[in-house]
Amino acid sequence: MISKTSKLGILIFLSGFFIQAQKFEELALTPPMGWNSWNKFGCQVNEALIRSIADAMVESGMKDAGYEYIVIDDCWHGGRDSQGFIYPDSSKFPNGMKALADYVHRKGLKLGIYSDAGTKTCAGYPGSRGFEYQDALQYAQWGIDYLKYDWCNTENINPIGAYSTMRDALYKAGRPVLFSMCEWGTSKPWKWANDIAHMWRTTGDIFVCWDCKHDHGGWYSWGVMKILDMQDGLRQYAGPGHWNDPDMLEVGNGLSVNEDRAHFSMWAMLAAPLIAGNDLRNMSKETIEILTNQEVIAVNQDSLGIQGFKYNNLDSLEVWFKPLSHDEWAVCFLNRRDQPAVIEFEWKKENVVDEIFGFETAFNEKPYSIRNLWTKKNIGKTKKAFNATVPPHDVIMLRLTPLK
Ligand code: GLA
Repeated sequence: MISKTSKLGILIFLSGFFIQAQKFEELALTPPMGWNSWNKFGCQVNEALIRSIADAMVESGMKDAGYEYIVIDDCWHGGRDSQGFIYPDSSKFPNGMKALADYVHRKGLKLGIYSDAGTKTCAGYPGSRGFEYQDALQYAQWGIDYLKYDWCNTENINPIGAYSTMRDALYKAGRPVLFSMCEWGTSKPWKWANDIAHMWRTTGDIFVCWDCKHDHGGWYSWGVMKILDMQDGLRQYAGPGHWNDPDMLEVGNGLSVNEDRAHFSMWAMLAAPLIAGNDLRNMSKETIEILTNQEVIAVNQDSLGIQGFKYNNLDSLEVWFKPLSHDEWAVCFLNRRDQPAVIEFEWKKENVVDEIFGFETAFNEKPYSIRNLWTKKNIGKTKKAFNATVPPHDVIMLRLTPLK
């Protein structure tokens, strides 16, 4: 016979055990927004850079537009001390991570860091394998708010187990941390990571080009259109608290202004995390206008959290729809051609159905007013056909609001 008290003891023990097996909820109810060092700076990270990026995020208006996380990617590491605790490279981060986190927090922003589930990071620094609980504790002591967790050097380990271990370690350490998985989509994390992470990479790395495939000798990175095409079939898996991540933005890193606008608009349509990857201290007027377009960001941040879908494709002029709260829709005409594309969109002849999330338009019975989100002008109603020309590699992005 087990006594009442020991039953209670067992119950308390088990509930403690189960409570650990969860991620921090309520952390990413809309797609996370922030900045990450990798796309522009690669391994050239240091304390002065991160501080000045935090300053620029505030001064450029990006913080006001909703960007929140400053994430230090690979190469911040120094080594492990005699007890196994990780420390940053002291020549790059002379005042240590705690002081840097304090600085970022004083600006009203949050700090993210990078590690890897394997023995080493992709750039060869110490990984977290075997040190998960210790690393999570150290991050909590520093005041870290976001962890990007990569998948290099993971021979013989299972992704579900490895990512669950780090999720549990972060939870046990007690400080809310947004958990960003970077497993490149290899083992289809959208099928299993809902309870583990707040976002998961769906592809290999993005490359700053419109539609190329970049050969690194054995592995590839992908242009913006290639990454977009790889999102096909994944929208059912995303939603509040668990997002498909098509990788960080290349806006401001060398694409044309039209391409930057199209890239940003499509990431908004995909309900993708908006993690800028450019030098925020040195942005053109156009780059700032794109990254801080509040109306496009509002489409990305809509509370329904539904990823948009391609409605049709007319010779590389694609029409995308995204259901929004309050019966609104976002619509994006994406011109992938090298020539301008003429649109003649007769709303009344279209019937847009989102079978997965159960939304449908009935333009005949239910007209909408139309707002152009890049010109920021109200441009009529869906009672009349929409006629416009989209420049090459560009978009026209609209918001439809039901007429009363
Ligand atoms: C991988 C990731 C990138 C970046 C680098 C850092 O390639 O996919 O996003 O974090 O590692 O080494």
